[in-house]
Amino acid sequence: MPCGDDTAATTAAAGARLTLAPKGTVAAVQRGETLLDGCNRVHAPLAQSCSGHGVCGCCRVRVVAGGESLPPPSEREQLLRERRDYGRDERVACLAVPAGDVVITTTYW
Ligand code: FES
Repeated sequence: MPCGDDTAATTAAAGARLTLAPKGTVAAVQRGETLLDGCNRVHAPLAQSCSGHGVCGCCRVRVVAGGESLPPPSEREQLLRERRDYGRDERVACLAVPAGDVVITTTYW
């Protein structure tokens, strides 16, 4: 399903609902999966040069809503956020595991 497609993917009963703004594409995120996993599930183009290993910092996303559903950044994520000069509302998609519904965006969607 392309990123621009507004159809919703199935929401996981035990997971979270990830909405990609501004198009409103919805991805199911299973328990324990990352924001990047959700984006990949709906084939949303999200920059990544380390294949989701938390090294490059390219998978930067801005949290539009539902930030309270994300745990505080891990030490690893915080280090990467500082190195890459992330804003307060930005997260490393391959390291952030939502516990509830979240809305995210990027500068290129
Ligand atoms: S894809 Fe490289 S840090 Fe997330």
